[in-house]
Amino acid sequence: MTYLVGGLELDRPFRIERLGHFGYHTPDLPGTLRFLTEELGLFCSDIDDFTTRVPELPKEHALGYFIRCNSDHHTMVIGSQLLVDTREPARKGALVNQLSWQVGSLKQVVEGIDYLDHNARLRRIGRDSPGSNWHAYAYCPDGYVNEIYYGMEQVGWDGRSKPVAYAERAYHTRPPLPQIREHQEVCDIEARDGILPGFRHEEKREAAYDVEGVLLPQPFRLTRLARACLFVADPEASLAFYQDTLGLKVTERRGGMIFLRAADEHHSLALLPEAMKGELGIGAACSFAVASYDQLRAAYDYLRTRGNVILDLPADLSPGLSYGFWVKGPEAVAIQITYGAERFDAGGSTPPAMADLPATIQHGGERWFQPPFLGPLG
Ligand SMILES: [Fe+2]
Repeated sequence: MTYLVGGLELDRPFRIERLGHFGYHTPDLPGTLRFLTEELGLFCSDIDDFTTRVPELPKEHALGYFIRCNSDHHTMVIGSQLLVDTREPARKGALVNQLSWQVGSLKQVVEGIDYLDHNARLRRIGRDSPGSNWHAYAYCPDGYVNEIYYGMEQVGWDGRSKPVAYAERAYHTRPPLPQIREHQEVCDIEARDGILPGFRHEEKREAAYDVEGVLLPQPFRLTRLARACLFVADPEASLAFYQDTLGLKVTERRGGMIFLRAADEHHSLALLPEAMKGELGIGAACSFAVASYDQLRAAYDYLRTRGNVILDLPADLSPGLSYGFWVKGPEAVAIQITYGAERFDAGGSTPPAMADLPATIQHGGERWFQPPFLGPLG
């Protein structure tokens, strides 16, 4: 069947453009939040309070944190393990909360609802607040929640997210089309309530590091979510969902792993055989890019000397990532910090050990996939 997507003839009613965000659960919510914001320098963009929705939960476990690395309202979503275990007994023990893919229009999301319902198991639809993104969530065969979304709220020059009043524009059912544009929402709510302050991350650390001309609280800045790695029972069997239903493309297979891309990057998703889990000692992984080679090396020295857990994971986990290292917070998610992502057709080289890196390198040229970072570093 052919679908028309903005005039393009496609096999499905949406076209995934990039990996947008990744969510996971932690047994140590304050520890994970501290690791992400004070070690990795990510920003909290909003806090979701579940105390009335899950009243039986101890208050310290009833908060969800939206985390951003650039102007996207969230690049990560962090919740307590106890929250998912209590709220969704069917997903008890689930480490990964969600994996979210950006599509190019609201119409693609809405028309994707029936398609996902027919080709997978639909979880929920509508539009969340905080974050403002319109979405359809579906399960992959291993039970991971995959979201297609459009219209992520953009956090601008003042670093504030939308005020809570905008929650009235959330949807929990199929949104009728067309919708008013976001500018109209802003005008309507401002006319009624005035200009309200939204949440802003308050940085307590001193900005003592000169990062290529700008003073930051740590010697690097994470600028982009590069990829996610999931353990699945059988990567080949998972392709029915990730390749056929979502439309991702296989870039390469390596040691039982399958690497899939959304656009021209080497991969945005790595499917790893469940059997590797014990050997690697992690439950899931994701990678963030920094803006320069100097920042990558500085991040390694900084995080290591501050006593963070640096993981020694096989290089074959990272084809298409030129340089990088792994670090871990208090939960089972490994986070890789990388510089130099390759295009899908560059050959898939793997990162050398950090200790072997020269002081300077040549740029990868057109072999590299390197979307520009928009806006100031801090
Ligand atoms: Fe999401």
